[in-house]
Amino acid sequence: MQIEVGSGDLATRDTGLLVALCRQDGGVPAALAELVEERDFTAAPNQTVVSYPRGAVAARRVILVGLGPDAGIDEERLRQAAATAIRAARPFGEESVVVALPADLAVTGAALGEALATGIELGDYRFTRFRTSLTEDEAFDIETVALLADPSDASAIAEGVAVGQAVANGVLMARDLVNTPGGMKTPPDLAAMAIAMGETQPSITVTVLDEVELAEQGFGGILAVGKGSDSPPRFIIAEYGADLEGVPTVCLVGKGLTFDSGGLNIKPADGMLWMKNDMGGSAAVFGTLRVVAELGLPIHLVGLVPSAENMPSGRSYRPGDIVTTLSGTTVEIHNTDAEGRVILSDGLFYARRYEPDAIIELSTLTGAIIIALANHASGLMATDQALADALLAAGTRSGDRAWQLPLWDEYREMVKAENADLKNLAGPAGGSITAGAFLAHFAGDFPFAHLDIAGTAWIDAPKSPYLSSGGTGAGVRMVTRYLRDLVG
Ligand code: BES
Ligand code: MN
Ligand code: ZN
Repeated sequence: MQIEVGSGDLATRDTGLLVALCRQDGGVPAALAELVEERDFTAAPNQTVVSYPRGAVAARRVILVGLGPDAGIDEERLRQAAATAIRAARPFGEESVVVALPADLAVTGAALGEALATGIELGDYRFTRFRTSLTEDEAFDIETVALLADPSDASAIAEGVAVGQAVANGVLMARDLVNTPGGMKTPPDLAAMAIAMGETQPSITVTVLDEVELAEQGFGGILAVGKGSDSPPRFIIAEYGADLEGVPTVCLVGKGLTFDSGGLNIKPADGMLWMKNDMGGSAAVFGTLRVVAELGLPIHLVGLVPSAENMPSGRSYRPGDIVTTLSGTTVEIHNTDAEGRVILSDGLFYARRYEPDAIIELSTLTGAIIIALANHASGLMATDQALADALLAAGTRSGDRAWQLPLWDEYREMVKAENADLKNLAGPAGGSITAGAFLAHFAGDFPFAHLDIAGTAWIDAPKSPYLSSGGTGAGVRMVTRYLRDLVG
């Protein structure tokens, strides 16, 4: 979609469809006030009213969208309003739409442009790749949105729009990857998709280790989990900015479990249905890399994705098996469904060779995090409080939130085993934290943050105007915000 920024009088703007964002405190713009009854349109957040001015203004149709009271108009409110606007506009079949911004917003300039562009692009998302029966209305796409802004702010808003569209591209890529069926994104498929991303983004170099190389180099965790599947595991390395000097190095590690049946500890049917989303961490890593490449950030960013399919078969790893991971640490398997931490152990240990300033790992790791936080925040656990604080702030600002849980030594004790160094399951108590404690072992002394996105990477029902059901792209907005703050 093309998003242009201009200025001018909304009353005389000749367009098939004008959408006006309205502050509750500022009221409906004078030129449009005649079109609505005050009682019917209070400009409450995301409220919409359609009207036909019949000559009262130049536009043929007008949609008013509420922003609510000024005290609540932050970047999140603006993202939602922009998404509401695009969703309300789509059914009218106008290829080009004008969106008028109110005067005197507290959010201005690039921040305003970014919030609006992000909301427009994410709000317009639909996963229709496998719908062969779309009606003309369903298939319709708005081609151009023209923002009508204060002329003194227009160029700053336009800069923000470009950033917002880059961020949205990364989120949408992650959503598409998560929504793709498990049978069409086996580990070799996921690796091929990463290679394709490297071809469209030449600043990203993609290297893939196949099952033979994994065996030669001792990736025991990835190999163990992948054994039961007919599709072999992979380790994907996607690197940006290796040649930049004097920049921080950050490793992003993402769980790329392309389908999680549970393995021999097989999941019940209800728990298995949407387990194609178990590569949501890897989707966030690829999406974030794409944004960073599009923005050309001065950073060395390394994406590391252990990828396997967890399946039951005569070749599967078993409960009671002891796995020697890449680090040499041995792990006793107490439940084959706690497979994420087993493949991630190799990815995290591999990250150490870059001597990174931070390791940020994202995974749909535990059902327990959904019990703790529902889908309103990702779970954050970290060995470095400055890193945790920066991620929490980035999450709040971007609307892709996290909430911190502790990683005290007591939790690390809980994953120690009798027959091996560690066990992959410590029981139901503190299930998300003991998983995080297990992972922290493999990151060593490098500043490490674990984001459990099991509750946020996939949602069963729409959550806001720009978060439709299915894959959400959770983590991309938070981590890109963190990286921009880090280098900015
Ligand atoms: N991929 C799941 C976690 C998950 C659950 C993600 C729900 C998204 C939605 C993970 O591999 C898993 O199976 N975890 C088990 C661990 C248990 C066996 C200790 C869980 O949380 O039930
Ligand atoms: Mn599992
Ligand atoms: Zn899993």
